This record gives sequence, C-alpha cells and structure tokens, in this order.
Amino acid sequence: MTFMNILVTGGAGFIGSHTCVALMQAGHQVIVADNLSNSKAETIDKIKQITGYDVTFYRVDVTEEETVDDIFAKHSIDGIIHFAGFKAVGESVEKPLAYYYNNIVSTMVLAKVSKKYNVNRFVFSSSATVYGENEVPFVETMELLPTTNPYGETKAISERILTDVSKSNPDFSVSLLRYFNPVGAHESGLIGEAPTGIPNNLMPYVTQVAKRKLDKLRVYGNDYPTVDGTGVRDYIHVMDLAEGHVAALNNLTEGVHIYNLGTGQGTSVLQLVKAFEEVNNIEVPYEIVERRPGDIAKCYADVSKARRELNWIAQRGIAEMCRDAWRFNTFAD
Ligand code: UFG
Repeated sequence: MTFMNILVTGGAGFIGSHTCVALMQAGHQVIVADNLSNSKAETIDKIKQITGYDVTFYRVDVTEEETVDDIFAKHSIDGIIHFAGFKAVGESVEKPLAYYYNNIVSTMVLAKVSKKYNVNRFVFSSSATVYGENEVPFVETMELLPTTNPYGETKAISERILTDVSKSNPDFSVSLLRYFNPVGAHESGLIGEAPTGIPNNLMPYVTQVAKRKLDKLRVYGNDYPTVDGTGVRDYIHVMDLAEGHVAALNNLTEGVHIYNLGTGQGTSVLQLVKAFEEVNNIEVPYEIVERRPGDIAKCYADVSKARRELNWIAQRGIAEMCRDAWRFNTFAD
C-alpha cells in the first residue's frame, strides 16, 4: 500500500480528529487545516498523544483561497478529506447565508486549488440527510429528495459540485461519504464529541443528563411508525466511521463514488437510552415531548456497497458506542 500525505480540513473536530488517528495508524501522514470555530487546538495534541506521531496543524479558514494555496505550495499533498463545515441543522435555518457560504465556498476553493496542484484524490464529508424522506433503508442509487434545511442543501450542492468537477476532469477521483449518526469516542477517552452550549444531538444530550448537567432528556415524539414510537436512527461508532474514510481513500479510483457509512441497523431513541443506562449503570431521566420539526421517523443505511467495494463494515455495536461516549465525558472533566 502507498502511504500518503493527506490534508484533513476540520481535523480538530469530532469526526475529523478520529479520522486523523485512523489515517496515521494506517501509515498516512496528516496535515490539519482547521479554524477552530467549533473545536480546540488541544485536540491536536491529543491526536499526537494517541498515535505517537506528529501532526502539522494550520489554524486557517479553508474558504480563503490564498491561504489554502499556501498550504498546497508548502506540502506535497496526495489527497484531501474535507470535513470543515458548519453542521447544526437548526442553526442553518437561522443563518442560511453563513451555512451556504462556509460549506459551499470551502468545497469550491479546495476543488480549485486541488486542480492547480494536480491533487486528484478528494473525500467529502456528506450526510444521510441528502436522502430526505426516501424509504429506508437508504441506498446510494436513490434519487435525492429535498432536505428540510440549508445544512442539508449544502451537502447535496457540494456533492453536485464535486461530481461536475470530476466529469470535467476524469483524473479527479471523488468519494462522497454519506454519514449516518456518528456517536461514541476514541476508546482512550482522550478525544470525543464536545459540543459547546446545549447539545442538539441525542448522544451528547444523553451524556449531559447522565452527568446531571441537564435535568432530563426530552424525547421528541413517541407516535412515529417505529418499534416504540420514537425516532429510529443508524448510530455508528465514530472510530468505525473514521476507518471507513481510510478504506475510501485507499480504494479510490477514477470518477465519483458514493458510499453510505452506517451500520445498517436502526435503533430507537428509547432503545439507545436503555442501552446507555445498562452499559454505564447510570440513570437517564426523560420525558416525552412534541415531535421536533424536520425530523423523520426512520433513517438507516443499506451498507452493502461499502462492504462490497471498500471491504469495510462497522465493527462496533451500540454498547461500545454508549460506553466510549460516557468514558470520554467522564475523562473530560
Ligand atoms: N432526539 C431526542 N431528543 C434530543 C435530541 C434528539 O429525542 O434531545 C431524537 C431525534 O428526534 C431523533 C434522534 O434522537 O429521532 C436523533 O437525533 P439527532 O439530533 O441526534 O440526529 P439527527 O438524526 O436528527 O441528525 C443527525 C445529524 C445531522 C445529519 C443526520 C443524518 O445531526 O447532521 O443525522 O441522518 F444530517
């Protein structure tokens, strides 16, 4: 296998930092570009601590073309994994321009500079949200349906931009990775998900309730057509997701390739809460409240394409996701 120099944008963030670890453990070298708008510089030190390898870090904004150009001029880059982006669904409704600008301009700048420096491997951080209200399980060949928020649109538009760039330049190889619901943390407990303020997503909210920082979980609706009425999602351990990126990069061939990265298993909100309580032996009080606008009943992946073409399959189950999320939170204090 060839070892590569990979530019990881957003490499100090939740999924980015775990992917840096997986890349380095697979023998690749990592250059991180992150403006730390939703992450901390100390995460870079933690990545070094876990792997024992050095990381080149630039605190930069990848929407700035000259800054990105400087990085490409300084390093011999073999490929890019583009994570940097805003990701809060609710906030994207409040601040659409910030989302469209940041998430789309960054993709365009990176694609443009890649062309200039003849860097032909591009892995993009997309989301299952692009499937909208399709029937589950979601398959890569499905026609994408409109998403209900600007965040989702920025993912769908970035996918189209990269697809068109690849059509115009067949040497440009693109992997569009559609993530399901990443949770958990590195088993060391050193890196994990640390949202600022009150969390929007289920697992960070559950850990805050378990820590007694929030009094109870609000379960958004129990009248969905699901196993117990609560929303069903395909939770994936962030280290499995990280390893999925390494597989995508190592198997990248000409053209555009789309992969679902999930487990293929649906878990309801109440099933996740119960698993968390059992694995960590801690109570998570909750109440049922109204549905959250924009939520769908069920979201889970058909994962056969990634298994077939990347020889990748998620290894870790719900119990490990709950254990590692909690371990990171108890270490983080
Ligand atoms: N939920 C609660 N209470 C909470 C938070 C969430 O009941 O406090 C429920 C939701 O209603 C949903 C499930 O838990 O049924 C998961 O919700 P999350 O907010 O954790 O995740 P979503 O599935 O809504 O969205 C996530 C990411 C998106 C991404 C999408 C892809 O946040 O960025 O997965 O499927 F687009």
